Formats: sequence, C-alpha cells, structure tokens
Amino acid sequence: MHKELNLRELTIINEVGKILSRGYEFTKSLEEVLKVLYSFWDVRHSYVALYRRELKALKILKAFGLTEEEVERGIFRKGEGIVGKVYRDGVPVFLPDIRTNAYLNKTGLRERIKQGESFAAVPIKIGGEIIGVLAVFKDFGEESVERSVELLMIIGTMIGMLYKLDEKINQEREEWEEEKRLLTKALSEKYSVEGIVGKSPAVRKLLELVEKVAQTDANVLITGESGTGKSLVAKAIHFMSKRKEKPFITINCSAIPETLLEAELFGYEKGSFTGAYTSKKGKFELANGGTIFLDEIGDMPLSLQPKILRVIQDKEIERLGSEKTIKVDVRIISATNKNLSDLVAHGQFREDLYYRLNVLPIHIPPLRERKEDIPVLVDYFLEIFNQRYNKKVRLHPKVIEIFIEYAWYGNVRELENIIERLVILKDGLVRDTDLPPYFFVHLHDSEPKKVLQVIENTEREEILKALEKTGYVKSKAARLLGYTLRQLDYRIKKYSIPLKRY
Ligand SMILES: Nc1ncnc2c1ncn2[C@@H]1O[C@H](COP(=O)(O)OP(=O)(O)OP(=O)(O)O)[C@@H](O)[C@H]1O
Ligand SMILES: [Mg+2]
Repeated sequence: MHKELNLRELTIINEVGKILSRGYEFTKSLEEVLKVLYSFWDVRHSYVALYRRELKALKILKAFGLTEEEVERGIFRKGEGIVGKVYRDGVPVFLPDIRTNAYLNKTGLRERIKQGESFAAVPIKIGGEIIGVLAVFKDFGEESVERSVELLMIIGTMIGMLYKLDEKINQEREEWEEEKRLLTKALSEKYSVEGIVGKSPAVRKLLELVEKVAQTDANVLITGESGTGKSLVAKAIHFMSKRKEKPFITINCSAIPETLLEAELFGYEKGSFTGAYTSKKGKFELANGGTIFLDEIGDMPLSLQPKILRVIQDKEIERLGSEKTIKVDVRIISATNKNLSDLVAHGQFREDLYYRLNVLPIHIPPLRERKEDIPVLVDYFLEIFNQRYNKKVRLHPKVIEIFIEYAWYGNVRELENIIERLVILKDGLVRDTDLPPYFFVHLHDSEPKKVLQVIENTEREEILKALEKTGYVKSKAARLLGYTLRQLDYRIKKYSIPLKRY
C-alpha cells in the first residue's frame, strides 16, 4: 500500500493476525477471517475456494452469508469464470457490477446481491504457489478500489499463512503420533518377548536368559510354582530357537496314566499290546528336528526314566513292540513345580537323568515376589479380554492396589482368570466391591495352603456349576469355563468331581 494504513485497514489486519496466533484448525480459522471481514468491513457475502486436485477444480471450503446450496454449487474449473481466472493467472479481479456476462453466477448468489454491491476476488498464495481464491461481495461506496483490493491481497496472503501453519501443525501431530506409536511398540516389545510380559528385574533377567538359551541346543529344566509361566517360557524358547520351523510337541507326564505314557512317548507297532490296532508314532518321533516339552517331569514314572536317559545319550528310540531303532534329533525342555533335587534325594527321581535334563536351569519366581509385574500384566490381560469379548472394562485404582497386595498363589494364571471373569461379567469401571470375597480374606504368608484351598474350592464350585448348567456335557462346560477339554478333565480328576450321567 502506498499510503499509510488507515484505522480500519489496520484493525482488519490486526484481527486476522490474532487468528493466526490462535492455532485453530484451518477451516475454523477461515470462518473467523470471514467473520472479521463482515464485522469490521461490512462484507455481507464472502467465501474461500481452494483448488482440489481430485476434482481438478476449485471448491468452496468456507463461506459467509451463503446458503448450503450456494456453497455446494461453488465449484470452479481452472480458467472458468472470474474465480477460475484469478486462480489461473494469480491476478486480482474487481467487478463493479455482477450483472454482466463476465460473472458466471455459479453459486446462484446473484439474485440475492443488492444493487451497488461489487465483487472482488484475489488469489491465495503460499510462496509462489496459488492454492485458491478469496472472493467478497461488498458495497465499496466511496472507498478506493485500489486500496480495497490491496487489503484483500494482504488477507489472501495471511490465509495462505494460516493454511501453511495448519499443514505444519498437522504434520507435527502426525510425526508425534508416529513417534508415540513407535514408543508404545518399543515399550510393549521391551515388556514382552514372545508373549512373556513383565518389567520386574526378575522377568528381565528371565528374558535375557531365555534369549541366550534359545541360541543353544542344550536341555532346559524350567522350575516354578503352578501358573508362573513355565509352559509359556518353554514355547518361547522353542520359537526363538533355530528349531522354530520344526515341531514343538508337549506331553504332560502327570495327566497320562503310566502305562499309556510309554506308548505316547515312544510310539508302538501294530499288535504290540491289546488295543494297538495300528502303528503309531510317539512324541519323540513327532518332535524330530524340533523340541519336546516334558511338562510335569517330576511325575515321570521311575520305570520310564532310563528310557528317557537313553534318548538323551544315544539320540535314538524304539517303538513298543519293535526292535528297529529310530534316530531322533530332539531338544528336551522339561518343567516341574516340584523340587526335583528333593525327589532325587528321596530316590523318586534318577540323579543321572536329573543332571541330563538340568543342563540349563531356569527358575521363574512366583508372582508375589515380583509385584511390579502385576500392573503390567493387568493391562495386558485387560486389553486381550476386552478385545476378545468386545468390552471396555477398566479397573479402579483401588482394585489394582488390592491386586498388588494379594498373594496370587495361583500366580499369573490366577490373575489371567480373574481378569477374564471380570471382563465377561462386568461393564465399565470395576470397583473393589465387585471382587470375589476371597480377595479380602487376609491370610498370612504362613498360610499359603489355606489360600490355595480357597481358590481351589472356588474353582471346584465353578466347574460343578458349569457342568450342571451344561447337563454334564464336558465339551460345553469346558468352553464355558475357558478350559480345553483336557484341562477340564485334569481338574475333574484333581478335584474328584463325580460325573453324573443323565
Ligand atoms: N509373564 C507372563 N506374561 C504373560 N502371560 C503369562 C506370563 N506368565 C504366565 N502367563 C500366562 O499365565 C497362564 C499360565 O502360564 P503357564 O501355563 O505357562 O504356567 P505354568 O507355570 O506352566 O503352570 P503349570 O505349572 O500349572 O503348568 C498362561 O495363560 C500364560 O500365558
Ligand atoms: Mg504348564
């Protein structure tokens, strides 16, 4: 502008400048700018049209004093009409009277424009690039056309700045979101390897050990109370090892009667015993090239122990009823919640086998000795079960407090089960009053057996209830309880639950 700005021009520029500093979203900024033009300059109708690549045309993004239909109709091709020309050429246009042929009236606004109102359109530029057009309808009266157009050009430039600012904020927001995503991912990876979640020093050490052990072929003995994650760790070792493409075969030595266990482990030939109508591969053969997981190894019958020793020493087996030896290459991971060295001392477990299995010992401490893991595990299980059951259950901080205090004699499994139950049964926020009563039975650490008893009684009752509900159809009851059929069978035996038949 050649001459000094007058008060009105200064006020308008100042007001638009204020909008810049507010960091609104772009369309909101536009709305404010057009409002300023109305309030301080009596612009009754105005709009901003931006070029949209996908439409290959300009489209009104924000308008003031236009109806929805008029906005809808505001689409201008490059070079078409005044708006299209301003966009193409980057030069402002002033049309004193819109009742001429130059004005295409695409919006259909002409009929509502009063006599004496003129039309002005200026380009919106960012740097050298034109991104759209600012258009206003106004009775300029005695005002200088030149000065008015120049003021509009300045506002056009400021709109360009608003656009750029918004783009930058969005880009930063995206970068920030991405950073957050990477961070969360890194965190969850840090707190979880192959599904082993925890942040206590004990779990970190465990994870380091698991990683190291996975690199070797040595036999591993995992010890820890029931539900501490022994099976999980065994699986993690296999799937982190170079045997991961080969089978991972589990056998629970306590769940199978002694007589069947041998056949299960080594396989049999047709006719080798009554009922052996076909030949069958044993678990060692099935696991060839991979890993066999001997769960509850403490329950391996003494009579079978020499045979296991032989597999380890000679890497060969014979099926029952066969003389043929079969070479097997199997890594053995075993687990127990018993004290194996005690069993050795009492002659219930062979010392030589114990040392062969226990080349790399891994001990998982009980959950109550690594309480830092409790909140992380709670989050982890909440997420899993909320997703599985399509719920949004949260726990009151008081509940977490109680969980941290609680002794968890059933360890992680017990925590997992209670959270699954809460997610299924509750909605929204779970309070401490929603917890089952045994959480409030304060027993001393000297009475773990009692607590376990309470848990087991509850479990027994639940199984009974589920069986009643499903008419003693075990598969249905198992599904209801979230157990596999085998897990249910195991518990039915453990709690000597009588199976009625109807
Ligand atoms: N650190 C952990 N992170 C995530 N889940 C865990 C963790 N530890 C245990 N779990 C989960 O808890 C449950 C019990 O774990 P797992 O079956 O491995 O225990 P276990 O020691 O083998 O028990 P048992 O002696 O009764 O066989 C499983 O569902 C397992 O996925
Ligand atoms: Mg297990």
